[in-house]
Amino acid sequence: MLSIDHKNDDDQKKKLREMTKSFCGIEKPLKNFVDHVEDLNGLIRELHKAFSTNYVNIEHVNHLMLVYASNYNDWKKFAKFDRYKYTRNLVDAGNDKFNLMILCWNEGQTSAIHDHADSHCFLKVLKGGLMEVKFAAPNNDTSISHMEPNIPADIGAYHAGEEHEHHEEQLQELCRNTVYENQVCYINDNIALHRVENVSNTDVAVSLHLYCPPFDACGVYNKSTGKRTKCPVTFWSKYGKREKILDN
Ligand SMILES: [Fe+2]
Repeated sequence: MLSIDHKNDDDQKKKLREMTKSFCGIEKPLKNFVDHVEDLNGLIRELHKAFSTNYVNIEHVNHLMLVYASNYNDWKKFAKFDRYKYTRNLVDAGNDKFNLMILCWNEGQTSAIHDHADSHCFLKVLKGGLMEVKFAAPNNDTSISHMEPNIPADIGAYHAGEEHEHHEEQLQELCRNTVYENQVCYINDNIALHRVENVSNTDVAVSLHLYCPPFDACGVYNKSTGKRTKCPVTFWSKYGKREKILDN
């Protein structure tokens, strides 16, 4: 019954993407769900249950991210840092329905300004603090099909000073806020673009991210011109093991 399974998966993805138009995230846990998960594996189990039906309750997913309490022993095997840019470390591929990953930020490391490929993005800080800077999406069409296809960018690089041939509009900053240990922030393309930074000069930061549906490319943006470039998203490690380095 593989074809039916695929159809259900497609339905789930379609419904999830529709929900990005109205969902804005919840700030506090809900009363009608479990009030805690025992550890990271417990969170993963609950997430698999939440994604096992055709219709995913996205508030429930947000709730689960909120009620998990960070514990170093849970996630230390995924916490791999790089001296040059932040790392993305896959924790669970969510049966192709979500991706759960841990991002490790050395002092001062920052992401590029990026979108989330029409998916939901939950970010929970496990250690330290991260500043999120939101930007309004440019007015031009930002669908995947309009991205430049063969010029990969780097989501781990900061592109503030790049020059471009076409004069376009500078991205407008909307707000900035800092997310601390165990707090969760939420974003999707209907809300804004964002950049995430570990602004500390003395402390590393670690964050847990859930993306649904999963994606393997997103758009990164030049702040000065608003120009969007396709960016494949890659993993520094998967399931606690370093990925092979491939030359581009
Ligand atoms: Fe993001």
